[in-house]
Order: sequence, then structure tokens, then C-alpha cells
Amino acid sequence: MEGDCCRSGDPASVGEHCNRFRKQTCRLSARLPRSLDEICMRLLEDRVVIISGAAHPKGIGKATAQLFVEHGARVAVLDLDETSLKESAHDISPDPSKVIALQCDVSSMEQCQRAVSQVMDWSGGRIDVLVNNAAITQKAAFQEITEAEFDRITSVNLRGVFFLSKAVIPAMKAQASGSIVCISSLSAQNGGGIFGGAHYCGAKAGVLGMARAMAKEFGPHGIRVNTIAPGLVTTDFSKTGRSDESKDESAQAWPLRRAGRPYEIANGCLFLASDLSSYVTGTTLDINGGAYMN
Ligand SMILES: NC(=O)c1ccc[n+]([C@@H]2O[C@H](COP(=O)([O-])OP(=O)(O)OC[C@H]3O[C@@H](n4cnc5c(N)ncnc54)[C@H](O)[C@@H]3O)[C@@H](O)[C@H]2O)c1
Repeated sequence: MEGDCCRSGDPASVGEHCNRFRKQTCRLSARLPRSLDEICMRLLEDRVVIISGAAHPKGIGKATAQLFVEHGARVAVLDLDETSLKESAHDISPDPSKVIALQCDVSSMEQCQRAVSQVMDWSGGRIDVLVNNAAITQKAAFQEITEAEFDRITSVNLRGVFFLSKAVIPAMKAQASGSIVCISSLSAQNGGGIFGGAHYCGAKAGVLGMARAMAKEFGPHGIRVNTIAPGLVTTDFSKTGRSDESKDESAQAWPLRRAGRPYEIANGCLFLASDLSSYVTGTTLDINGGAYMN
């Protein structure tokens, strides 16, 4: 689905994106499972989606929630930061039947289970997609990382993925369908260095392995599990206050010569969440401007 529109710096509207996609793929239409109009315009019509870590205005979680709502999904956004989460949810859609905001610390199994049961009440018992996006980072030299810091980072970034995934699996199994997308990182593959220490890299590498184990175990139940490994993206994740321009500068040695934008990771989530990827499971989608090639 990557066409000319994906190469520019601006996000194309869904309609614009689809017109280009339609032109490029019309020759394949006979083999596609549904009509192109249906596939293009509303890839997630009436799907119930949970996205963790969607509070920050410039974050990947919010960009993904916005794109999913444009594609017809009903989205539950979860985050630790309740005030920003409510503002983000209102920006995404003021319609409470489209978007709900639930405070949830993903490092707590109990809170994950409570949030998932609230989503089930809201949705009438369905959960079609989970995007495990919430995470924290810390730049630190290996020998400087304390036991408490190691536990804090792995607790959110690895245990959080385990807890939230575990909480949605019963609903997905009962439906015999579902898609789980886990946001890992380029740091899991190349050892980090930009803003993540060894504890961050280890937790994100753990996500890659755990997602594949889930893909194997739950594939027979119709549940697909995939990961995305973003490179440097222009969000406020590292909390360094660096501008987007300075992040683009850092990326000058990479083939696409710039950092990624949140909507570009959201586009990958859309592919993996929707039926466009119906035969894809256990894979890692690298969205990194060519910074690292597997
Ligand atoms: N920005 C990058 O360059 C980059 C690169 C590689 C991977 N990633 C990954 O992308 C994902 C999104 O990051 P982002 O860049 O949008 O940053 P972000 O800070 O906007 O998003 C992370 C969100 O997680 C939330 N969060 C933190 N701890 C939580 C907890 N315990 N429970 C629930 N929510 C919690 C934060 O409040 C925040 O809203 C993360 O998984 C991150 O590791 C980002």
C-alpha cells in the first residue's frame, strides 16, 4: 500500500491515499478478497481497537488512533497520563461511541484486566485489535543502570505487553479472530544508542520474541501477532526537547535522510491491524528509513 503519497513529508488524506492505491493495484483487484472501494475507504469498519500509550499529542499512539477512527474503527485509548489522555481522546473524536479514554498502567496486570473488561462493556463484548504501544525509555550506560531502573523499564515495556495481550486473548479466542500489533524498536535490533539504554534494548528485543511465541500459539485460533520496529521518530518520547529538525539532522547518514513521522508508524499499524495483512503473522515490520536492513 506504499505509493507516491507515502514518500512525501505530509500525510495524505485517506481518500487521496486510496485513489493512488486504487490506480496502483487495480490490476490485482480480481485477486483481492473484497471490493477495492471497501478495502480502501474503511479498512477497520466497526472494529474494536485498544491502543496503549496514546496520550501524548505528538505520539505514535495518538496518530494511530486518529488513523484508525478515519478507517471506521471504535478505539479505546489507554494511558497512565489521564489528563493528556482525555484531551487526546477528545481531539481524535468527541463522539464517545467512537473513542473512549481509560486510565491504565500497563505494568499492572490488574489494571490491564480492568481496562479490557471496561472496553468489553463499551463494545458489546468484542475486541478485534490491540496495539501495544505504551513504553518508557532512559538513556544510560550499562554499568550505571540500577536494579530499580532495570525493573521500571522492563516492567512497562515488556511486562506491559505481556499483561495487556494476556487480557485481550480470551475475547479474541472466543471470536476466533484478532490482530495484536506490538511496537518494538530499532534499538532491539541494533543495540540502541540514540536514547535507549541496554534495559530498553533488552525489553524491546523481548517484545520481538514474545510476539513470535504468541503468533505461534494463537495462530490456530485466528489471532495474528506482529511487531513494528520503528527507527527514530519525531515524537517527544525521549523527553530531551530536541526539535524535529535536529532529529532529521541525526538521520542524515540513513538512506531516506530524515527521521520518521508518527503517521508513518500509524500506517504500518493500519496494515497489520487490517485484513490487508490477513496472511501475515509473526513478522517484524521495519519502519526506519533504511537505517537498519535485516
Ligand atoms: N519515538 C521514537 O523515536 C521511537 C523509536 C522506536 C520505538 N518507539 C516506540 O514507539 C512507541 C510510542 O512511543 P512515542 O515515540 O509515540 O512516545 P510517547 O512518549 O508519545 O508514547 C508513549 C506513551 O506511553 C505512555 N506510558 C508510559 N508508561 C505507561 C504505563 N505504565 N502505562 C500506560 N501508558 C504508559 C506515555 O504516557 C506515552 O503517552 C513506544 O513503544 C516506543 O518504544 C519510539
